[in-house]
Amino acid sequence: MILLVGATGDLGGRVARLLRESGQDVRCLVRPATDDSPLRAIGAGIVRGDLTEPATLRPACKGVETVIATATVITRRFAGTSSATIRDVDEVGMGHLVDAAEAAGVQRFVYLSFPIGSASLRTPLEQAKLAIEERLANSPMRAVVVLSDGLQEVQLSRAARFDLAAGKAAVIGKGDTPRRLVSTGDIAALLAAVALEPDPPARIEVGGPEPLTKKEIIGIAGELAHRPLKVQRMPRLVARLATLVLKRRNDAMASALGVGLSSDIEEATWDDKALRQRGINPKSVTEFLKEQAQGLASH
Ligand SMILES: NC(=O)c1ccc[n+]([C@@H]2O[C@H](COP(=O)([O-])OP(=O)(O)OC[C@H]3O[C@@H](n4cnc5c(N)ncnc54)[C@H](OP(=O)(O)O)[C@@H]3O)[C@@H](O)[C@H]2O)c1
Repeated sequence: MILLVGATGDLGGRVARLLRESGQDVRCLVRPATDDSPLRAIGAGIVRGDLTEPATLRPACKGVETVIATATVITRRFAGTSSATIRDVDEVGMGHLVDAAEAAGVQRFVYLSFPIGSASLRTPLEQAKLAIEERLANSPMRAVVVLSDGLQEVQLSRAARFDLAAGKAAVIGKGDTPRRLVSTGDIAALLAAVALEPDPPARIEVGGPEPLTKKEIIGIAGELAHRPLKVQRMPRLVARLATLVLKRRNDAMASALGVGLSSDIEEATWDDKALRQRGINPKSVTEFLKEQAQGLASH
């Protein structure tokens, strides 16, 4: 039995579908007020619970061999639909899940994080990811930590101020550091694979097939949209100060800005090998943008 925590999310939902398609027994921890019908429709079992309610986590882990945890509250914080903070959910709550999994005899814990380097301002999300990685490093369970570069569907979306339809994009910093944005579907496939393979690595740094700077991405998007994107810039110093000021007042905004700033400073040293080794043919940023541009043209 595999327990998925975060299965009503975009990435988490893809993991659930992939595992069900391959015939796995899947149980999903779903918050009490969240719609579980798409998960029921694919034959997943449902257990109601919440990372901020430790008493709900022990029964959720009963009889489970592997936990896959992709849950985060950051999107719900941006949407204004969660009063629980990133520290409450992503750090303390996820820590409770690790405790419950250990107590229930879970053998493998697959955890999704992202690479956090020396340029990090230790935003609430980075703090939470590092705390859980450390907790898992000291666990008797077999931990598999997947450190993914930015997700194309998130980082190249209107929410991240990349708006192909309106012809606008924001750049934090200089925009000349190559990163490897990766498709959400490819990371979902990787998580599903490492949950099942006999001898997975303890840490996997991974990104997409195409190293591109933000400026290069904006150039490609402009060509595909047949008009250059208008660029709004936030200098590194401004982003740094805003992140530090927001850390206490708006944990989601501080975390998003901090990740944007780190990505502008720290080049991707990882590649797409972990995907290809598992037969996943990774989607490039150019392919992703082509799909977006075609979607706009057909509307
Ligand atoms: N964005 C990026 O560029 C990037 C890069 C690397 C890694 N990641 C990682 O990717 C993951 C995001 O996955 P996603 O796209 O599926 O996220 P998502 O769409 O924002 O979904 C978040 C999930 O977490 C659940 N959740 C929130 N609060 C919870 C709580 N208190 N108890 C239990 N579950 C709770 C949500 O449940 P409800 O539906 O009930 O709210 C939902 O299932 C995160 O781990 C993130 O750090 C993202």
